[in-house]
Amino acid sequence: MRKFTFVLLLCLCLTARADEGMWVMGNLSEKTDSILRSLGLELTPEELYSTENPSLNDAIVQLGGFCSGVVVSPDGLMFTNHHCGFDAIQDHSTPKHDYLKNGFFAKSFEEELPNEDLFVLFHIKTVDVTDLILGAIPADANDLQADSIIDAVSRRLIEMVDYSGKGIESEVNAFYKGSKYYLSVYQRYEDVRLVYAPPQCLGKYGGDTDNWMWPRQTCDFSVFRIYADKDNNPAEYSKDNVPYHPRKYAHVSTQGYYDGSYAMTLGYPGSTDRYLSSYGIESTMRTINDVRYQVRGVKLSILDEAMKQSDALRIMYASKYASSSNYWKFSLGQNTALDNLHVIAEKQQLERDLMQWAQEDTLARGRYIGVLDSLQQFYTDNYETLYGRNLWIESFYSGSDIFGFVLRNLMRSRDDDFQERVAKQYRDIDVATDKKVFLALLQNYIQHVPHERFQLTDIPQEVDSLYGGDYARYVDYLYEKSVFAHPEELKKVHTFDELNEDPMYLAAIDVLGSFFAVWGWHGDVETHERLLGEGIREMNHDHEYYPDANFTMRLSYGLCKPIDFAPGTTGLKEEATSMMTTPRSFLNKHEQNPDNYDYRLIPPVYKWMKKGKFSPQYIDKRTHQLPLCFLTTNDITGGNSGSGMFDGKGRLIGLAFDGNWEAMSGDLKFDNALQRCIGVDIRWVLSVMDDYSHAKRLIKELTIE
Ligand code: ARG
Repeated sequence: MRKFTFVLLLCLCLTARADEGMWVMGNLSEKTDSILRSLGLELTPEELYSTENPSLNDAIVQLGGFCSGVVVSPDGLMFTNHHCGFDAIQDHSTPKHDYLKNGFFAKSFEEELPNEDLFVLFHIKTVDVTDLILGAIPADANDLQADSIIDAVSRRLIEMVDYSGKGIESEVNAFYKGSKYYLSVYQRYEDVRLVYAPPQCLGKYGGDTDNWMWPRQTCDFSVFRIYADKDNNPAEYSKDNVPYHPRKYAHVSTQGYYDGSYAMTLGYPGSTDRYLSSYGIESTMRTINDVRYQVRGVKLSILDEAMKQSDALRIMYASKYASSSNYWKFSLGQNTALDNLHVIAEKQQLERDLMQWAQEDTLARGRYIGVLDSLQQFYTDNYETLYGRNLWIESFYSGSDIFGFVLRNLMRSRDDDFQERVAKQYRDIDVATDKKVFLALLQNYIQHVPHERFQLTDIPQEVDSLYGGDYARYVDYLYEKSVFAHPEELKKVHTFDELNEDPMYLAAIDVLGSFFAVWGWHGDVETHERLLGEGIREMNHDHEYYPDANFTMRLSYGLCKPIDFAPGTTGLKEEATSMMTTPRSFLNKHEQNPDNYDYRLIPPVYKWMKKGKFSPQYIDKRTHQLPLCFLTTNDITGGNSGSGMFDGKGRLIGLAFDGNWEAMSGDLKFDNALQRCIGVDIRWVLSVMDDYSHAKRLIKELTIE
C-alpha cells in the first residue's frame, strides 16, 4: 500500500510537473539542474555550458537574427529548419533552377552557395549586470527617463567588453521586464553557405494547412555551412574562406526516444510575455491579434492570386507570403486558445490573490496595491491608440513593399547608402501586385481606423477633389507617376531626399502624419507590468520563475510525450494521439486531399515515399517505421525554430520547428497539459538526405551514434 501511494504520488507529481521554462544558459540554478538530472539528463553542468572547455553550448547558434541552428560536423556543417533557410533558398531559386520546388544539394564545397544577409552568432558567455544598471536609475524616474539611463549604461558596458577576439560583439538584455539585466557576449560569423535543402513538398509539407498544428509530417530542415578565414576566424565572404572548425559539434543519435524519455532544446526563443496582466492579454487579443488577422487576410489573398499566375511570381513572393501567413494564422490560434483555455479568468484569479496578499501586510507590500488599477486605466485609456498603431503598422509599414520602403526612408535620419537599400528592397517586388496590395490596404485602413484623430487627411481630400472619390484611380496615378514604382528609374537617383516632390513621397508624409497621432500613448505601462510581475514572484517566492524569452540563448527541458487531447483535424486519428508520425500518414494526407496544394508532391518524392525503402539504420526500433515528426513537452516559441533537440546523453534527436494549435496561447501562458514542441526526427532528416538525395558526402561528415 505504501508503495502504491508512493507510486501514485510520483505519477501525480509527474503529470502536474510543468516543463514550462526557458532557462538562461550559463545561469541554471541548482534546483533546475537537479530537475534536469531527475528527468534523465546525463551531461554534467560543465558539459552543457562552460566558459573554459568546449560544451554543448558551443554547438548552438543564433541564425540571422530570427532562428536557431546546431553545428553537426567538424567542418562547420549546420542544421536548421527549412522555414529558416527559406529566404536563402528562394534567393537562389529561378524558374529554371527551382530549388524551392526540387530541393538543392551542393555536391562539393565549391557548389555551396553564399548568402549575403545570413550570419550566425556563437554564444561565448553571459554576465549579470543588474546592479550596475538598476543602481544608476533614480527612484523617481519615469519609463522614458529610466530607458535613456539604461541605454547609456548598457552602451558603456558594451564598450568595456574585450573586442580583440575577432567578430566579438555584445548586447545587454532586460530580463523579467527589466527587473534584471544580463550582458551576453557572442562571436559572429558572416560567411554562411547553403549546402542542402529538401524539396519544398518535404521541407514545407502541409504548408499553411498544417502550420501550428499536430499531427505533422513536415521534414522541416535545411543545411548550411559556416566558413572562416584560414585561421578559423570570422571573415566576410571570400572564395578563399575555408570551412569553420567549431569548438564543439553535436553528435547525432539514431537511437530515438520513447514516451517519457528525456528531451531538451537549446536555442534562441524570441519573445514571450508570460507575466502579462489580464488587461494586457485582453489588449493583445483585440489590438494586435484581431488587427493582424484582419489586415493580413486582405493582403494574403492578393499575394495568393498573384503567386498562381506564374512560377516567377510564385518564387518571388514565396518567402514574404510564408512569413506573413505564419503570424496571420498564429493570431487566430492564439486568440482561440486564450478563449478555450480561459486564460484571462485564470490571470484575474492570480491578480485577485495578489491583491489579497498585498492587503495582508500593507506596510511591506503596499506598493502593489494600486498596480492593477493603473494597468486597467492604461489599457482603457490607450485602447484606440494601440489599435490604431497596429493597424497603421500592418497597413502601411509592412503592407505594400514599395510604400513601406518610402515610409521607412522617411523615418530614417541618415540618407546614405540609398542605392544599396533600393537594391535590397526591390529584389522581389512585382509592381502590379504591389499596387493591388497598396490600394486594398489603404482602403481597409480608412475603413477601420478607430478614431478620427488617426485618419489620413491629404489623401482622402485629393481622392475626393481630383478622382471623384475613386481610390483605384488615385492609386493608378500614384503608381504611374511615382519613381518608386519604376525600379529602373529609381536606380538613377542618388539620395532619397531628391524625391521630395514625388507623389508617393507626399502620400507617405500624410500617412506618417497619422502615425504621429498614434505614436504617443500615455502612462508608464512598463513600470506597472514589471511591478505586477515582481509582486507575483514575491508572493510565490518558493516557486522558481524563469525570465521571458528575449532572443537570448535558453535551455528548455522536458520529456517526449503525446498529447491526450488532440482533435487531429487532419491525418490518422491514432497519430493525432500518438507522439510520432509515420510515412503512412504522410501519404494519407496527400492521397485524401488531392486538391490541396499544401499536400502536393513532386513525382520523385511521391515515388520514393510510396516505395517506402528507407535505410534500416533510420527505422525506429520500437515501431519499425521511419519516424517523421514527434512531440515533446519542451517550452519553445518563435526564434527556437531550428533548435537542436537532445536526448539525455546530449545527442541530437531532432530539430524543433513548431508548436500546437491547442495551446497557442503559450506565449502568454504555458499550458502544462496541452503545450507541446513539434520536432522533425533526425532520422527523417537523415533518410531524406541519404535515401532520397544520396547526399553521402554530408552524411559522412556527421558523427552518428
Ligand atoms: N509555425 C512555425 C514557426 O513559427 C513556422 C512554420 C513554417 N511553415 C509554414 N507553413 N509557414 O516557427
